Amino acid sequence: MFGQEGLKYIGYIFYICKNNRMINSIHTITIGILGGGQLGRMLVKAGTDYALHFKSMDPDNEAPIRKFTNQFTQASLTNYQDIINFGKDCDLITIEIENVNTEALKALEKQGVVIYPQPHVIELIKDKSAQKQFYQTHGIPTAPFKVVTNKKDVEALAHKLPFVNKLAREGYDGRGVQIIRTKEELTKAFDAPGIVEDLIPFEKEISVIVARNTNGEIRVFPVVELIFHPEHNLVEYLFAPAEISTNVEKEAKQIAINIIEKLEMVGLLAVELFVTKEGAVLVNEVAPRPHNSGHQTIEANITSQYEQHLRAILGMPLGATDALIPSAMVNLLGEEGYQGRAIYQGLKEVMKESGVHVHLYGKSQTRPFRKMGHVTITDSDPKQLKRKANFVKDTLKVIA
Ligand SMILES: Nc1ncnc2c1ncn2[C@@H]1O[C@H](COP(=O)(O)OP(=O)(O)OP(=O)(O)O)[C@@H](O)[C@H]1O
Ligand SMILES: [Mg+2]
Repeated sequence: MFGQEGLKYIGYIFYICKNNRMINSIHTITIGILGGGQLGRMLVKAGTDYALHFKSMDPDNEAPIRKFTNQFTQASLTNYQDIINFGKDCDLITIEIENVNTEALKALEKQGVVIYPQPHVIELIKDKSAQKQFYQTHGIPTAPFKVVTNKKDVEALAHKLPFVNKLAREGYDGRGVQIIRTKEELTKAFDAPGIVEDLIPFEKEISVIVARNTNGEIRVFPVVELIFHPEHNLVEYLFAPAEISTNVEKEAKQIAINIIEKLEMVGLLAVELFVTKEGAVLVNEVAPRPHNSGHQTIEANITSQYEQHLRAILGMPLGATDALIPSAMVNLLGEEGYQGRAIYQGLKEVMKESGVHVHLYGKSQTRPFRKMGHVTITDSDPKQLKRKANFVKDTLKVIA
């Protein structure tokens, strides 16, 4: 009766109404958060300024978010029915982790629940090979790669060594990533679907966080730099703004904008990038949610990444992203060799320094390298900032 164009138009009007209803009734809508880790907890904290009503879901009964939302459900994020049950009385659903059942989210979307980031975007991003293919299709610079389905496929690429073998799904915090340098090391290749990627001898790793709201408005945060330990090749801390040329900065921001535009995604997108010695910028991977590399925006930027994500998904105008002061961020990881009830050693000493802001995630049990909290350090003098970041790293320890 309406024809294709007519249907499109009605859909558009419906979308606008729903969007306005969301902003106008901001206090009465229920926002469901899938995942209850520290990212979700900080998202809820930002939402308290707008008196938002949240419920959350996580498999861990002691999830950091638990005490901060009106309702908490302990259930599996990958189980179809668990997500349907949780989501059916939500007006809006968002995520703090990608590894969720997207089929259930698509079904909820059909039932009228608004889901940002959109389920098809989550689906694409949670699969590293699909993500890499997306970059290739859209001419977004990234390390050359091959899709593999098992260990045999990886071994067949021996002539390309050294390379990086990554799991397509469920890898996080570097757990699904292996650098394979020699033929002998091929034995440790993953026997699962994934990718084999050229090993990039990058000079720097940087990250850019970009947001896009329901009206298509886009804002980018300043570029952040990951500082590596000079001997151990481990990320020591984050530094903002990154010490990079104007060209690299422009390029990194443009890449982030291109990706979020091409995905037509609503919400926050964190883009991890490599900068090569020649000054080329390559995308490593993206995450469609608040990110570890944006924690410092809570203290150091006009709008935090958490508030920005909420503004984006609620259809509010996006906030200014400017940095107010240079900052550093140190992840507080469980000390090696300790497991059990967490004790925070050196807390008083670091808090005596001005501009040191400690965030503890409320995880009662520590284990080696578990993310237990983070510390943001602000100082207008970059030298002092680095000194304080190193002091925090050396002084504050999570033991048991
Ligand atoms: N192609 C590459 N060349 C060189 N180093 C790489 C490459 N890919 C990944 N790495 C290194 O491994 C790290 C982890 O890789 P990646 O970000 O893909 O995995 P991840 O499991 O999602 O990690 P995280 O959750 O910490 O972001 C990168 O930050 C980088 O230091
Ligand atoms: Mg990564």
